[in-house]
This record gives sequence, C-alpha cells and structure tokens, in this order.
Amino acid sequence: MEFDFQTLSGKDRYKLLVATVVPRPIAWVVTQSASGVVNAAPYSFFNAIAGSPPLLAISIDGRDGERKDTAVNIRHSGQFVVNLVNDAMSHDMVVTAIDFDPTVSETTEAKLATTPSIKIAPPRITASPVAFECEIFQTVELPGNRDLVLGHVVMMHVVDEAVMDAARCYIDTPKLDLVGRMHSGGWYSRTRDQFEIPRIDVADWKTSAG
Ligand SMILES: Cc1cc2nc3c(=O)[nH]c(=O)nc-3n(C[C@H](O)[C@H](O)[C@H](O)COP(=O)(O)O)c2cc1C
Repeated sequence: MEFDFQTLSGKDRYKLLVATVVPRPIAWVVTQSASGVVNAAPYSFFNAIAGSPPLLAISIDGRDGERKDTAVNIRHSGQFVVNLVNDAMSHDMVVTAIDFDPTVSETTEAKLATTPSIKIAPPRITASPVAFECEIFQTVELPGNRDLVLGHVVMMHVVDEAVMDAARCYIDTPKLDLVGRMHSGGWYSRTRDQFEIPRIDVADWKTSAG
C-alpha cells in the first residue's frame, strides 16, 4: 500500500507519521513567559541532531493558528530546558500537556518541583533524570505558525546514580528508565527491552566473509 504525501490531508499525513516513526523521545520543555510564569509541555517531534555544535530539535505545532505557549516563550526569551521523561514521571508529563491558559503554570498544576538552572532563567524539573539547558540556535518558521526550534545545549544535568564515570562521560542509560511516545491515543513505550549488536570493521568483515 502506498500513501501519496503530496495529495493527503495534513491530518492524514500526521496520523501516518506518528503511527510509524516510533518510539519518539519526549522533550519535556520548560520555558518562562515574559511575566515569569513557568510553563512545561511535552514535545515528541524531538531529537538530538548534532554533537558539535550540540543541537536538539523540537517541532512546535500551531494551535488554532496561534503559537503554543512554549513557542511564544522561546521566541521571547531564547531559552528553554529540555527534560527527559522516565517511567515514574510519565503520568505527570501527560498532565502538563493539558491545554492550560498561558497564565497557568503546568508545574504548579502537576505539583512538579523545579530547580533553578545554572546558565539560563527557566528552571529544570527536579526529578527528571536528564535535563539540558538550551539557548536558541535557530528557529525555522514552518507554515501555520509552527516553529522548528533548534536548541544549543549549554549545560547538561544527569542524575548521580546514572553516572558511571563522570571523567569519561559514561552514563548508565538503562538506569534512566526513559520512555518514548508510540502511536496516537496515548501509547508509550519503555526502554527496558534492549539488545546489542557490536559494530563490524572492514577487516573483520572481510575475514568473516572469507
Ligand atoms: C507525549 C506528548 C508529545 C507531544 N508532542 C508534541 C509535539 O511534538 N508538537 C506539538 O506541537 N505538540 C505536542 N504535544 C502536545 C502539546 O504538549 C500540547 O499542545 C501542550 O498543551 C502545549 O503546551 P504549551 O501551549 O504550554 O506549549 C504532545 C503531547 C504529548 C502528551
């Protein structure tokens, strides 16, 4: 079966993308409004896209043709924290996706403790196992008041228990117990089912092909 993305509606294209590009990591983004309201919301059109410069990408859709609070705040301050979501926090994360008025703080509604960031104004979510303090690198404006935001990571926090060797930057990834977003309807996946396939160099490949 083929689907022609040049003739499908936006809604159908979205349905096909989110039903197949899975699991998607979740950026739990904390921003601050011009009047100081701390905003939190999850975004799963998200990934790490480069190590040098260290860039994260988040795609923020429009809502009724207007920019979402996260996009408004990032445009205003140029700063945001990307927190990652573990299994224990997944229900709190969903609370912050409620379409609250911009004057309402999702961290207050979800009773989420926050900790001041080191280099930027928006705080991080204290219990998140990983948080990236970001400054805006570039915003690509998409049609319909959508923003593809590229964030430059200026500071990273990792929960102590998951740091195996700080000098070597070795992280115990399974210990983070992160979750990803699956298809629509509120489905998620855990990251506990893992397997290893070592890389093969050319010499070994030639030997084994023998
Ligand atoms: C797991 C999850 C992932 C989401 N991913 C996105 C996304 O990638 N882009 C987007 O525009 N909205 C996404 N949403 C919806 C926003 O979180 C929701 O519209 C939220 O109210 C936006 O809040 P804000 O106006 O405070 O920024 C997602 C929701 C959930 C629960």
